[in-house]
Amino acid sequence: MSAPRFDVIGIGGCAWDLLGRVARYPHPGEKVPLLEFREQGGGQAASAVVSVARLGGRTAFVGTVGDDAAGANICREFEAEGVDTSHLFLDPQGTSHLAFCAVLDASGERAIFFTPGSKRRLQPADLDPEFLCSAGCLLLDTHHPEAHVAAAALARQAGIPVVTDLEHAVCCIEELLRLGTHPVLPERFLLEHTGETDGERAAIRLLERYQPRALVVTRGVRGSIGYQDDEVYHQPAYQVDRVVDTTGAGDVFHGAFAYGLVLGYDLPTNLEFASLVAGLKCRRLGGRSGLPTREELKELWRLPLPEAPLLQ
Ligand SMILES: Nc1ncnc2c1ncn2[C@@H]1O[C@H](COP(=O)(O)OP(=O)(O)O)[C@@H](O)[C@H]1O
Ligand SMILES: [Mg+2]
Repeated sequence: MSAPRFDVIGIGGCAWDLLGRVARYPHPGEKVPLLEFREQGGGQAASAVVSVARLGGRTAFVGTVGDDAAGANICREFEAEGVDTSHLFLDPQGTSHLAFCAVLDASGERAIFFTPGSKRRLQPADLDPEFLCSAGCLLLDTHHPEAHVAAAALARQAGIPVVTDLEHAVCCIEELLRLGTHPVLPERFLLEHTGETDGERAAIRLLERYQPRALVVTRGVRGSIGYQDDEVYHQPAYQVDRVVDTTGAGDVFHGAFAYGLVLGYDLPTNLEFASLVAGLKCRRLGGRSGLPTREELKELWRLPLPEAPLLQ
């Protein structure tokens, strides 16, 4: 088989984020000044592939945007980051996903107000199997459930690992859990899905039921836990000097984890790598401002990252 053309292809949600840092949340009817304001791209699979691109990985994004200013901004930023957008569809009748993120200055926690827009959902017929199978790893969220299932099935058949980022129940959640080789799930989703109140028990239930190659549970500032072959690996969150904003930490963790799979990292190494990249993201406002580059990671990561290759 020829070498993969892309390290990671992400299929899923992309958004335009308006982000403001605030001292506190206003009561209804009250005004609170923004300490800082930024606009930038966001979205689960979208920020995941951008984090890989910053590290020098070859990436592509598959999804939909509306025919509006937000959609144009989203595309422009992907291109500036070197993410391939040849399979990013413009819906001429639709509007794009837009979010307003209010970030608390003291803790970096955020509240998000959003509209998914009216852009259409990707369908299995939109997928280009040859293109998808040129990936070293496929990364999926839940924004296009039918297409995610079809893409995951294709990837599984081709022996390509599938990292899933599932935050809430959607129509095809069972199939997505069954088809993901490496589900990387926030603990709150895991508890919600299994009905358990204990994270460890919920993880064991999920492992027994879907038998993924590995399972990772992310727990915000409490770090992450990896499960593989009856082994459990606890990874603390990376300590940054000052947490400015946790928006997109999970997205970035997924991106780095998917890239780590392509780089051949074993599970504990990959958890450490993803935690480092996600932690560094928290240094700045937004899902992307704080993302480390390959150059910066040289100082902070003990393994060499490949030289930035050019897209073919
Ligand atoms: N405050 C933080 N400081 C350092 N790392 C963090 C922080 N919050 C999240 N992370 C990292 O990002 C990962 C994913 O965060 P989490 O909140 O679980 O996901 P999501 O952003 O999808 O809700 C965590 O496992 C951790 O490695
Ligand atoms: Mg998330």
